[in-house]
Amino acid sequence: MSATEERQTFPKGFLWGASTSSYQVEGGITNNDWAKAAREGRVPEAGLACDHYNRFEEDFDIAKSLNHTAHRFSVEWSRVEPEEGVFNEKEVEHYRAVVKALRARGIEPFVTLWHFTLPQWFADSGGFSRPDASKIFARYCAYVAERLGDATFFSTMNEPMVWIGNGYASGIWPPFQKKVLNFFRLAGALAQAHNCAYTAIKRVCPHVHVGVTKNNIVFEARGWLKFLRLDRLAERFWDGRFHQAIIKYQDFIGINHYFRVILGNGGVVKAECPRSDFGWELNPRTLGDALLELKQYSVPVYVMEHGLADASDTHRAWFIEESLKGVLQAIKAGVDVRGYMHWSLLDNYEWAEGYTMRFGLVEVDYKNNNQRRVRQSALRYKEICTANSL
Ligand code: BGC
Repeated sequence: MSATEERQTFPKGFLWGASTSSYQVEGGITNNDWAKAAREGRVPEAGLACDHYNRFEEDFDIAKSLNHTAHRFSVEWSRVEPEEGVFNEKEVEHYRAVVKALRARGIEPFVTLWHFTLPQWFADSGGFSRPDASKIFARYCAYVAERLGDATFFSTMNEPMVWIGNGYASGIWPPFQKKVLNFFRLAGALAQAHNCAYTAIKRVCPHVHVGVTKNNIVFEARGWLKFLRLDRLAERFWDGRFHQAIIKYQDFIGINHYFRVILGNGGVVKAECPRSDFGWELNPRTLGDALLELKQYSVPVYVMEHGLADASDTHRAWFIEESLKGVLQAIKAGVDVRGYMHWSLLDNYEWAEGYTMRFGLVEVDYKNNNQRRVRQSALRYKEICTANSL
């Protein structure tokens, strides 16, 4: 093998796959804060979504046909604990079947225990502002982990800072608050909730790996702001603080990365690269940069989300391939990256944007019985997964 070929190959056993989350794909979820907000007309309805709750076997067949070896999904808290302290064993059985279906196809399950949506009873009683929130969250997490113990990777939560930012600062997501002070309080409460959940899970399932999946942004400052090192400050605020708060309670780091933010003298600078349908800059260099920042933590890293809204599938293959070059560079620089999961396996419910954004490797025809159609880019990604190299 030539030196160039060697550089393009990922470590042996590197995991390849895609991600989803319960509310975005399952359908039929009515007992959480998002479903309530939709009934009130404050966010779009999720309705049947991709009906993944009933079609997960078919979807995992597709993932297997694409040579995926890992899949990240989330457990819907409101299904498992529909009322405070009351657990629904039938729903746990459903997620056990999900894990089994993945294992049967040789796909490693990565479970997220909480991906943005809160059970109605928890949201109504104050959510993570409740003084006993960490105890409640830890009890739920341990309950699920103990029963899904055949899965070995658990993220307690997805993107805590994004959830707080949208729910408590910009106020565009439930609980629709715009109180900056709450923002800081909540960040502390979530870190504490994770740390308690970590301990509770480990008590019942010492063999599993537990972490947080966090959204990391790459900040770039220009002009005077660079001189003032505003990028470092923003990074510390958005990325570093939370990592530090949970540093003793993580077996791995899950990272979601989508874009960089350029801070210019006049504010946030416009994108300098092509853009996704969402308007997000498609700069393939930044995934590698985001990973490099995690070197300091010396734990294994999994890319749990990375992707783009691209209905016409114009940019996806290119964006994946070019971004993966950055992953390889980060590995070469000593970051222990062990897997990449693309967002998303399926087109799905994109929160405040409803069904307008198409993030899937697989297109979902919502008007035609939710038919699945594998996109061309998924086939290019399949070649990479199969070869374990670029
Ligand atoms: C979230 C996903 C979301 C994706 C694209 C991430 O912030 O975890 O739920 O669909 O970004 O916006």
